[in-house]
Amino acid sequence: MCGIVGYLGEKGATQTVLNSLKRLEYRGYDSSGISCFLNGEIITEKRAGKISVLESAMDKDVMNGATVAIGHTRWATHGEPSDFNAHPHLDCTGSLAVIHNGIVENYSDLKKILEKEGHKFRSETDTESVVHLIEHYHREDDILDAVIKALDHVEGTYGLVAFSVKSPHRLVAARKGSPLVLGVGDGEMILASDASAIVEHTRDVLYLEDGEVVDLTQNEYKLYDLNKNHIQRSLESIDWDLDAIGKHGYDHFMLKEIFEQPETLSNAFRGRLLLDDVDVRLDGLEFLNSEIEKINRIIFVGCGTSWHAGLVAEYLMEEYAGIPVEVEYASEFRYRNPILKKNDLVITISQSGETADTLAALREAKSQGVRVVGITNVVGSTIARESDGGVYLHAGPEIGVASTKAFTSQITVALLIALMFARRRSVKFDEGKSILENLLSLPKAVNSVLSQCEKIKQIAEIYSENHNFLYLGRGINYPVALEGALKLKEISYIHAEGYPAAEMKHGPIALIDEQMPVVFIATRDEIYNKVVSNMEEVRARKGKIIAIATEGDEEIQNYADHVIYIPDIHRSLVPILAAIPLQLLAYHIAVLRKCDVDQPRNLAKSVTVE
Ligand code: G6P
Repeated sequence: MCGIVGYLGEKGATQTVLNSLKRLEYRGYDSSGISCFLNGEIITEKRAGKISVLESAMDKDVMNGATVAIGHTRWATHGEPSDFNAHPHLDCTGSLAVIHNGIVENYSDLKKILEKEGHKFRSETDTESVVHLIEHYHREDDILDAVIKALDHVEGTYGLVAFSVKSPHRLVAARKGSPLVLGVGDGEMILASDASAIVEHTRDVLYLEDGEVVDLTQNEYKLYDLNKNHIQRSLESIDWDLDAIGKHGYDHFMLKEIFEQPETLSNAFRGRLLLDDVDVRLDGLEFLNSEIEKINRIIFVGCGTSWHAGLVAEYLMEEYAGIPVEVEYASEFRYRNPILKKNDLVITISQSGETADTLAALREAKSQGVRVVGITNVVGSTIARESDGGVYLHAGPEIGVASTKAFTSQITVALLIALMFARRRSVKFDEGKSILENLLSLPKAVNSVLSQCEKIKQIAEIYSENHNFLYLGRGINYPVALEGALKLKEISYIHAEGYPAAEMKHGPIALIDEQMPVVFIATRDEIYNKVVSNMEEVRARKGKIIAIATEGDEEIQNYADHVIYIPDIHRSLVPILAAIPLQLLAYHIAVLRKCDVDQPRNLAKSVTVE
C-alpha cells in the first residue's frame, strides 16, 4: 500500500524518482507527489490521480536540477485522495519533507498535542502528525536524531523517508512494518518500497528490518537501530533484471503474466523433482526434516488470492500427506487468539511477502513457539525473512494488481510440499510418480489452455454487460470457483460469487434467471456426475452455462452454452489448468468494459496496512 522512493545522486533526482514511482504505482495509485531540494528550498508538486497527472503538472525544467528528491504514490487510508492529502507532507515552515507508507494509529492524539503547540496541519492524513513531530525535535536536533526521537512516540507502522533544508544532502529513512529497500549505487543511493524501483540503478541492496533507521548521503549509508546503535549488515544482490518488469508487447501486465505461466510453473518445480526417487527436494524446508513425521496439523494463512491457494493446498496436503489442515484468513487468525500446539505447523502464503495481516499472523504463530514456513514470491520479503524456512515461487515480479501467475505457482509449490511431507511420513504414496510426470507436462498443458484465448474473448463479448456472475465448483475445484469470481470482481467490477456447486441449492439458486451466467468447473473426476446434475438445475432455471471441462468430454456440450476445454491431467493439477481460462475470461471482460485492468479502482497490489 503506497509506494515510496528517495534518491540522492547526480542522475536527475526528480526524474529518477518519477520513473521509480511508475514502477511502484501498482502499490497505490490514487494520488502522488514529489519533493526535491533546489536553490536552498524544498520544491513540492503533488496531485490527486495517477502519476501521469503529477508528471504533467511538474515543471521539470525547474525540478530536474536537483540531486535529492523523494516521492510517493498513495493508496488512501486517512483522508480522501486529493492534492492536499497526497505526500510528501511538509512541516509548518516548508523546510522538512516526509513520505510515509503505513498507518500512524495514535495520530489524533499526536495532532492534538502538536496543534496546541502551534503546529498548523494542512491535510487530513495520519502522516502529517509525524512530520510536525519531527519538526518539533528538529528545532534542536539533527535530522537523524529528530526522526529517531519522533518515532519513539509513533504507534503503528511506517516506512518513511525525511529530508530537511538544514542538511539537504541527506535522507533519513526508517522502517517498522512497511517494507523499505536501500539500493547502494556508484555515487548514488536509492530507497524504495521494493526492489523493482531500484534494479535499474543497482543490484546491491539492503533490506531494512523493522526498527532500523538509515542515514544516507550520496556516497555513504549508516544503519542504526532506534537507540542509535550502529548495525553492520552486508548488502544482498538482486538476481533478476529489468526485463522481468516490462510488458513485452502485451497490452497489460496481467495478460503478460497470464501468458508467462508455462514458464513460471516450470520455475516453481525446476530442480526440485527427484524423479527416480519419486521425491521432492525443497532446500528451504530441510530444517523441518526430522519434524515432519510429528506434525499434527497444518494451518495455512493468507489473504485474497493467496488464501484461495491455501484452500487448494488443504485438499492436497490432506490427501497426500494425510495431515489435517485448516485454512485461515490471516486477518481473522491474528485476532482470534488461535490455539496453537507444539506440533502444529503454520504455512503463510503471500505473493508479495509483505501483506500486513499475513505478517502479523506469522508473528503470532512464532510468538506461540510454532514453526512457520513461508510460501512467497518476492525474494527477501519480510515474510520470507521472518519465517523459519520457506519455498520461493520464482515466478518473477507480478505487477498486475490481480494475482494470476502467483496463484498457479502457489498451488504448485503447495503440491510439492505435500509430496515432500508424504514421502517423509509413512503414508501410502502410489500416485507420486504419476504426479511428478504430470507436473513435467504441465507447461505444455498450460500452453494448450492459453491457445484458446481468442475463443474465451468471444465468450467474454457475450457476457461483458451482465451485472452478476456465479462460479461453481466442487472439491478441489471449489477454491478455483472462488478465485474465478474474485478475478472478475477485482478487475471488471461485476458482482461475482464463488460457491461450492452443491451449496447452490441453499441460496444462490434463487438468483438464477436468463441474465445469470454461471461458470462451472466441471472436469472429469469422481464427482463429475454430481456437477452435471447441478448444471441441469441451472439450465432448468434458464441460467447461461460456461463450463470448464476435460478435453474429450463431448457429453458436457449437452448441458453447457459454452465449453472451454483443459487437457486431461492428474487431478492434483486440475485447479492450475482450470484457473487459467477464468483469468482470461475476467481479463477480456474487464478490457471490454474499458476497466483499468492492471490498476483496478480502490485496490493495491501489496496491502501493508491492516
Ligand atoms: C491484495 C492483492 C491480491 C492479493 C492479496 C494478498 O489484495 O490485490 O491480489 O491476493 O493482496 O497478497 P499477497 O501478496 O499476500 O499474496
